[in-house]
Amino acid sequence: MTNELSPEQFPEGFAWGTATASYQIEGAVHEDGRLPSVWDTFSHTPGKVFRNQTGDLADDHYHRYPEDISLLADLGVTHYRFSLAWPRIQPEGYGPVNGAGVDFYSRLVDGLLDHGIQPWVTLYHWDLPQVLEDAGGWPRRETAEKFAEYAALIHQRLGDRVQDWTTLNEPWCAAFLGYASGHHAPGRTDGAAAVRAAHHLMLGHGLAAEVLRAQGARSVGVTVNLYPVDAVTDSAADRDAARRIDGLMNRFFLDPMLRGSYPADVLKDIAEVTGTEHVRDGDLATIAAPLDFLGVNYYSRHVVRAGVPRPGPTHWVGSQDVEFVKRGVPQTEMGWEIDPDGLYETLTRVSREYGPLPLYVTENGAAFADEVTREGRVHDEDRRRYLEEHFRAAHRALAEGVDLRGYFVWSLLDNFEWAHGYSKRFGLVHVDFETQVRTLKDSGRWFSEITRANAL
Ligand code: NOJ
Repeated sequence: MTNELSPEQFPEGFAWGTATASYQIEGAVHEDGRLPSVWDTFSHTPGKVFRNQTGDLADDHYHRYPEDISLLADLGVTHYRFSLAWPRIQPEGYGPVNGAGVDFYSRLVDGLLDHGIQPWVTLYHWDLPQVLEDAGGWPRRETAEKFAEYAALIHQRLGDRVQDWTTLNEPWCAAFLGYASGHHAPGRTDGAAAVRAAHHLMLGHGLAAEVLRAQGARSVGVTVNLYPVDAVTDSAADRDAARRIDGLMNRFFLDPMLRGSYPADVLKDIAEVTGTEHVRDGDLATIAAPLDFLGVNYYSRHVVRAGVPRPGPTHWVGSQDVEFVKRGVPQTEMGWEIDPDGLYETLTRVSREYGPLPLYVTENGAAFADEVTREGRVHDEDRRRYLEEHFRAAHRALAEGVDLRGYFVWSLLDNFEWAHGYSKRFGLVHVDFETQVRTLKDSGRWFSEITRANAL
């Protein structure tokens, strides 16, 4: 099937948005009853984050959200994707809601709606209440059950105004960077724990999807980070390395959530590290709860070869010997190779192998070393070009019949880029972290023309 689209035009009703996450922008970590999340603990542990930076203040969005809503209105977006901090809503991860915490999101939602912007809520973008981590975290089954209770509670408060609900953001990162390599909070380095965490994140997703739907949510989905994975040569060993990384990063999440089964080859790859005792009868049916959409976060491609096992903790559980190869193409400040074709390949692959299913690009964007000129401008032509090339790749997928419904740029604001602290700027809006002054970058000005024209 192909769509009748002019080369420049996006379909009517296409969602244009920007995305953020609670811990990366809010600050106000001690206000209105919020208790620590794993990211508060982790960022306050010396040596974990660039220059020991923390999200204590971040973009001070908790206080400056009216200004940030105005910026969204300037950008002309139809949608705004943000996440809720579980430790504001249930500071200990269970029990009754904290009214003051919910009020913040209620005000934010109202402000967005007043400006004609659809709130697009993510329930979990990595800030697990520390109390739940202390009780065992995601490797423990009960965390999934607690997550569904939290989903039910917050939907009761916001469901009258919020239509679109995303359960998880990038469960691969939460499980494998959080529990296997230790690069992210809570910083554990235990491959078997990471595999259990992945299962319980997905179980939490399935349980939450069920309650959200039962409570009348109009649209429920999940966001995963996907990559094309290529072998550097056609040798059997290199092709197997590509199969394994694709398995662990992409199929280990897509197969359970969209097909109700784990990929058998990946279970075999990781069998030396962990078994499947944590998977109970009925879990996979729960995990495969029907979805209204899949959110795809896309940044780059992986090119791999078979190598020799590396010592030390890794997120490549069971694939310690795979080497990642740089092709020498231009990169962003994150060291990620710029590869718009990879977005096209990812969208068409998901649609072909797991569809038909409405898709959204829930994140795409780039970090570059931006500077504010004396005239108060940020001339980020590199970011503008990056976005344009990726929008064109998405358009190509659309024209070939992929059911792509929207596109969210990461990010609205420069923010706390996890272990990189404030050193990587992804925003369409520059933030001076000393003064909190916001400056719309040239890429943001350009984006506002795209959103208004719904065309390139
Ligand atoms: C993925 C994550 O969801 C987001 O939190 C992060 O800042 C961006 N990608 C960029 O790394």
